[in-house]
Amino acid sequence: MEKVNIIGAGLAGLSAACSLAENHIPSRLISVQPSERAQSVLAAGGINGALNTMGENDCTENHMEDTLRAGVYIADPEAVRGMTKAAPGIISDMHRIGVPFNLKDGKIVQRNFGGQKKKRTAYAKSSTGKMLMTALIDEARKHEMNGLIERYAHHELSGLLIQSTESGKRECVGVTVADTYSHTQQSFAGKTILAFGGMNGLFPGITTGTTANSGEAAAIAFSAGIRFSNLEMIQYHPTTIGIAGKRCLISEAARGEGGRLFVMREGKPWYYMEEKYPELGNLMPRDVVSRESWFVLHDPTCGDQVYLDMSSLSKEVWKDRLPDLREEVMHYLGIDPAKKPVPVDPAIHYFMGGIDVDICHRTNIAGLYAAGECCSQYHGANRLGGNSTLGAIYGGRVAARDLAETLMTLKEEHEDTENSEPEGNAADEKPGAEAVLSIGGILKESLGIVRDGEEMENGLEKLKKLELKASQSEKRRLYLAEAILLSALYRKESRGAHYRRDYPGKNDAFRGLVTAEMTEDGIQIGNMAAGEQ
Ligand code: FUM
Repeated sequence: MEKVNIIGAGLAGLSAACSLAENHIPSRLISVQPSERAQSVLAAGGINGALNTMGENDCTENHMEDTLRAGVYIADPEAVRGMTKAAPGIISDMHRIGVPFNLKDGKIVQRNFGGQKKKRTAYAKSSTGKMLMTALIDEARKHEMNGLIERYAHHELSGLLIQSTESGKRECVGVTVADTYSHTQQSFAGKTILAFGGMNGLFPGITTGTTANSGEAAAIAFSAGIRFSNLEMIQYHPTTIGIAGKRCLISEAARGEGGRLFVMREGKPWYYMEEKYPELGNLMPRDVVSRESWFVLHDPTCGDQVYLDMSSLSKEVWKDRLPDLREEVMHYLGIDPAKKPVPVDPAIHYFMGGIDVDICHRTNIAGLYAAGECCSQYHGANRLGGNSTLGAIYGGRVAARDLAETLMTLKEEHEDTENSEPEGNAADEKPGAEAVLSIGGILKESLGIVRDGEEMENGLEKLKKLELKASQSEKRRLYLAEAILLSALYRKESRGAHYRRDYPGKNDAFRGLVTAEMTEDGIQIGNMAAGEQ
């Protein structure tokens, strides 16, 4: 049977590869870095699922409602229903394959996380992503032994092979990939699942994500005519610290366990989240916390640094629940967070927008799927902490199952159509460092926590000027950057992570997806109801 190409070997890619293998479908797992170094390994806090082990009468409907509310009602409710319903089963599958979740009396313990009304986040100390990945890598190895998974680490996507059928339908028939050491290119035929993660490289130095997620794969997909949606929805995590070349996450789990944000005002600490939001306080959804931190930092009566006070956390919490977090802070800042407040700043953490997919994770191009952070599904205008690990594992499974069914049907039907020669969009060079930094600088200036139409128009103009001297691959990157700004300009309202000073209120004319697509006539921006694809 023809192998499926999976681009990306983090949680979504591994989950898709294992699900395909369980259906006896072989795949190639193609990734810039080996799984052990994927972004998913850095996920700290946990994975959400209404296990109801904390005596709080939790249920999957509550999880669904919290997810939709945090996403400010632009996620597809049916897709979210599917994910939240599957969540308890996914957590118990992960436990079964060896994830060492924190337990009490043999039951998985769950902790508080932002934007959720119940304790619903299962965790393995403060290294949940690493533990999920270790267990899934082991599962994948079993399938590798049987020839059902073939790994291509140190290979990056360099183009998509797209063919038009007689009826005008566009279909992905394979990929071109480049060996990152030898730079040799090769093409692999087959249906494809994109699971390459977020667009961190578009914002150099200001994201918590791995710099290996360069944004190139997203630029390739966009210029090949894959539809994207909600590109303007970029999540700022409220608590990060600066390390060389990127930002290091201070997990929301720290606030889930009792950490408190404050700023100095009139010589005293002001716990602004607790005063402004008495119900959820420091655990309001991330868009709200980051915005409030931005507001206090721009308030002349306040100091110019926000701090996270974790001094009330008990010895047991540090030892059993947050050991890695404490070590990281001591290592990078030389501060013991158990004793002294930690200076923290918001930074980009997650891209809610990305490749537009339907409930089965199909893109607008037949034979091409997307799952995990590279796609726009489940999180709407703002993602809940603990829903990314869940969405990646679930999305990978959903894509794989749909693909398996399609392959079975095709085998029976033997579709016979006249097809055109596939067209590739592989570029044989990479964007230069200067272009990457210029584009990143413009995006950073225009797409902060608080945005403004005029600033975004200026940014767009600067990007257009860069087009004049750009190489082919730099143009691809510029088009994606322009699409992000155009999407942000199109959404003339404030919703979730997209907050506009010039349109500070929500406008239900925009209660849907903002779509972006590269066509022969240039970038087209439009809108669509979620689930309408
Ligand atoms: O803060 C955190 O631990 C992040 C978790 C997430 O983004 O899901």
